[in-house]
Amino acid sequence: MTYGAIVTSVRVPDAKGRIDDVVLGFDTLQGYLGSHPYFGAVVGRFANRISNGRFSIGGVEHILAVNDGNNALHGGLKGFDKQVWIANKTSAALELTYTSKDGEEGFPGNLTATVTYSVTEENELKISYTGISDRDTIINLTNHSYFNLSGREDEDCLGHIMTIDADRFTPVDAGLIPTGEFRALAGTALDFREPTAIGHRINATDQQIVFGKGYDHNYVLNHAGSASTVSARVTEPKSGRVMQIYTTEPGIQFYTGNFLDGTLTGKGIRRYNQHDGFCLETQHFPDSPNQKSFPSTTLKAGDFYKSTTVYRFSVIQH
Ligand code: GLA
Repeated sequence: MTYGAIVTSVRVPDAKGRIDDVVLGFDTLQGYLGSHPYFGAVVGRFANRISNGRFSIGGVEHILAVNDGNNALHGGLKGFDKQVWIANKTSAALELTYTSKDGEEGFPGNLTATVTYSVTEENELKISYTGISDRDTIINLTNHSYFNLSGREDEDCLGHIMTIDADRFTPVDAGLIPTGEFRALAGTALDFREPTAIGHRINATDQQIVFGKGYDHNYVLNHAGSASTVSARVTEPKSGRVMQIYTTEPGIQFYTGNFLDGTLTGKGIRRYNQHDGFCLETQHFPDSPNQKSFPSTTLKAGDFYKSTTVYRFSVIQH
């Protein structure tokens, strides 16, 4: 929908052909207008955190709106998730455009962003983003859909089997700001190089998991920028549904709905509890503008930002 460029439902068949909605959200616009943790939304201008809400470009410091302790999170107080986008419908695609004004939430430059959602013959939801700014700025767009492939109201996401094509992640401090380190996943409770149930180690005493109250971490993809390699694969054994992610982005924030606490009533009469859904937010790394060793998120005036992520749905083949 035009509000927040939000994906309100994704209806896909299970192994028996039964179609269910596999994303969290609300039945009405009212739910989305209230406070909620970015269900289905496009987050921008900058996905994830910017430490202390500050960054510099060309020696000029910019001060952002802060909404997560001292940090800026997901674009600030009124990010792209709370803006009304302009819709342009084509055959099997919906293009949404939003122009963010110079200085909005503290970000420099008039930035025009588009997101195009399309549905392909291969059962894919394809999301393409573009952006262009009239001043040097920063950009990091993603979609914040929460998935639960079971399609059932009484099922959390802990039984889903996750594989992520990453040997390393970017560890965080207690405020979930990256320390700047790239750390090997081998031997940690965050390792999803082999198919592993999300719930298998989610209560581990690993300090990273304690900081995140579960998984809330940026995985450094082994095949950065390759839209032809599977970056993450999730299967839900009971329904047989499979979701595979392809992305041009270098990272994925794997988040397990840790802050859901049963206070939000979503679709139907479902109350969303901790770990009822998971997000795989394809992105540049959190706090990139302040981290020299991370790939750059600077968008020069007049340059063209482009990013594509594909969610491909299928079922387990026996
Ligand atoms: C992202 C962040 C989380 C949290 C959720 C929304 O995944 O990394 O810490 O803010 O969005 O609740």
